[in-house]
Amino acid sequence: MKRIMVTGGLGFIGSYFVRMALERGYRVVNVDKMTYAARTDLDFDSHPHYEFIRADIAELKHLPVGMDYIVNFAAESHVDNSILANHDFFHSNVRGVYNLLELVRAKDETDRPVFVQISTDEVYGTIHEGSFREGDRLCPSNPYSASKAAADQLVLGWKQTYGLRVMIIRSCNNYGFGQYPEKLLAKTIEYLLLGRKMTIHGDGSYRREWLYAEDNCEAILTLLERGREGEIYNVSSNEEHSVLEAAEMAAQAVGVDPKDAFVFIPNRPGQDLRYSVDCSKVRALGWRPQRTLADYLPEYVAMYRRKLGLD
Ligand SMILES: NC(=O)c1ccc[n+]([C@@H]2O[C@H](COP(=O)([O-])OP(=O)(O)OC[C@H]3O[C@@H](n4cnc5c(N)ncnc54)[C@H](O)[C@@H]3O)[C@@H](O)[C@H]2O)c1
Repeated sequence: MKRIMVTGGLGFIGSYFVRMALERGYRVVNVDKMTYAARTDLDFDSHPHYEFIRADIAELKHLPVGMDYIVNFAAESHVDNSILANHDFFHSNVRGVYNLLELVRAKDETDRPVFVQISTDEVYGTIHEGSFREGDRLCPSNPYSASKAAADQLVLGWKQTYGLRVMIIRSCNNYGFGQYPEKLLAKTIEYLLLGRKMTIHGDGSYRREWLYAEDNCEAILTLLERGREGEIYNVSSNEEHSVLEAAEMAAQAVGVDPKDAFVFIPNRPGQDLRYSVDCSKVRALGWRPQRTLADYLPEYVAMYRRKLGLD
């Protein structure tokens, strides 16, 4: 039975990953600091192959013994917060990764887990046409993406210098239940269900690719099982919508006329116009996303209605 140390496994994507890994027969040790973004509605706590350690990845002194992989989801993840106060982003996203890499390096070479860094398409910055490949230059535009790009560079440096076994996975915008309602779709659905208007930065025309979190976690498990160590992999559905289009789809799923749903506010600094990544490397391993945003939204809204006690 393989063992995975997951960090940030109480967060939005990490919690999908923990559940899926337990279902696949992995043993999971989840290290999470329990920031404001950690979920409190999860049900895998009593699973016999699950262990929880409340800790900050930047302060952790030892790794659990006998791990085959570390999958590092732990991060501060909201761009707006990074613009207002960037300290925690440097602490968790850069110092945290540095500390984990050093803890792996301190282990005997025969006992080193593979270090899997969960990164983002945002590290590449804007692309007007086409899609970024894994070898393209990083060009982050805000403190969040800069901290994630810095972490990717640390991982590559520790691989080259110290021979660490690593992998970097850069995925596009994820959606799914359990996302903290600061992110676009969760906030749109929550606000509209509560009769409030949703705010959109600028004119909402900036484009993103949208991926269901479970599809993302399936890709991560595929890469653990069939990917090549030392490689970088992009993961995307290549389903592209502008932020306004995605929010309008959410409004329609809630049953609110998009014309009455939004208030437009000044754009934030560091706003990239378009993200897009080529994911032929992970597709060559047989992975395909199973859901589209339009498929998922009715289920998402129904779950949100129950969460808010509206049904
Ligand atoms: N959400 C997306 O659309 C998206 C897209 C691409 C990549 N990512 C990356 O995926 C990862 C997970 O994103 P998410 O949206 O699930 O994040 P999230 O904010 O929902 O959850 C982050 C989790 O990490 C924990 N955490 C934060 N700092 C920590 C620290 N120093 N030590 C231990 N635990 C800590 C939090 O308590 C929380 O449980 C992040 O690394 C993010 O950069 C996210």
